[in-house]
Amino acid sequence: MALSIPSHRELRKIVVLNPKGGSGKTTLAINVAGYLASIGRPTALMDFDPQASSIRWLKKRPKDQPAIYGIAAYETRMGVTRSFQLRVPNEIRYLVIDTPAAMTTAQLTEFTPGAHAILVPVLPSSIDIHAASRLIADLLLVAKVSRRMGRLGVVANRVRENTLGFKKLMSFLDRLQIPIIGALRDSQNYVHAADEGISIHEMHSSRSKKDLLSWLSLTSWLEQRLNTPLTSRDILNSGESPDPGLSSAEIIDLRTYQGLRDGMP
Ligand SMILES: Nc1ncnc2c1ncn2[C@@H]1O[C@H](COP(=O)(O)OP(=O)(O)OP(=O)(O)O)[C@@H](O)[C@H]1O
Ligand SMILES: [Mg+2]
Repeated sequence: MALSIPSHRELRKIVVLNPKGGSGKTTLAINVAGYLASIGRPTALMDFDPQASSIRWLKKRPKDQPAIYGIAAYETRMGVTRSFQLRVPNEIRYLVIDTPAAMTTAQLTEFTPGAHAILVPVLPSSIDIHAASRLIADLLLVAKVSRRMGRLGVVANRVRENTLGFKKLMSFLDRLQIPIIGALRDSQNYVHAADEGISIHEMHSSRSKKDLLSWLSLTSWLEQRLNTPLTSRDILNSGESPDPGLSSAEIIDLRTYQGLRDGMP
């Protein structure tokens, strides 16, 4: 089943997901939204998490920063239809979706159809890499996200370069040919920016230079995805089962990941 977000042809949807709590979904979502707004793109941020962190960030946003339209999708409002609640104004062209932790596989599959980009933040710890392997297996095998369409990108978050955790994450994704589209530093700049209702792109401080550099590969990947029109395969996510781009060895590999439980070696 797909979420029925009332949409229009020019709307580009960017979904940030990872059921693992604290992996950096909100941090990534607000910084992507801030990036788009800072370069003049009409942007909305839709928050499905009842913790409402993205919406709280928007409320703190200074009036002199480019506006971002907020949609509190976690609310159940009396007297309005769901599609009215989720409607995206016509002038909006970019929709960034922040999702909650602990989503089931079935819930995940509601978010992926029709996405121009699916961003998965992953922390480089063993437990998080383990959970990410299951998630990626679910996305490829159950949500039927096509690896060939290249819409799926992993963002290594809170990275301390050259640590064992980061290397492990790289080699796991390498085997599955899933791109790491960016590696964000573990940096207090994200915490300060979030507190001020701005993104790292709007900090304009010499302190954030290194962090801005780490965004270049991510934003260039994202722009490419946003400029690649959706195909029916992206919209329906219901092509052959599973994606014909996967080899049988890879399917066996993925099924093993799916069978893994958090905490197993
Ligand atoms: N690159 C980073 N550097 C420093 N702190 C970070 C970074 N990314 C995230 N954090 C901090 O880690 C915490 C968790 O991040 P965030 O809220 O983005 O995760 P989440 O996946 O949205 O969590 P939840 O699953 O609860 O929604 C926050 O306090 C955030 O400020
Ligand atoms: Mg969050």
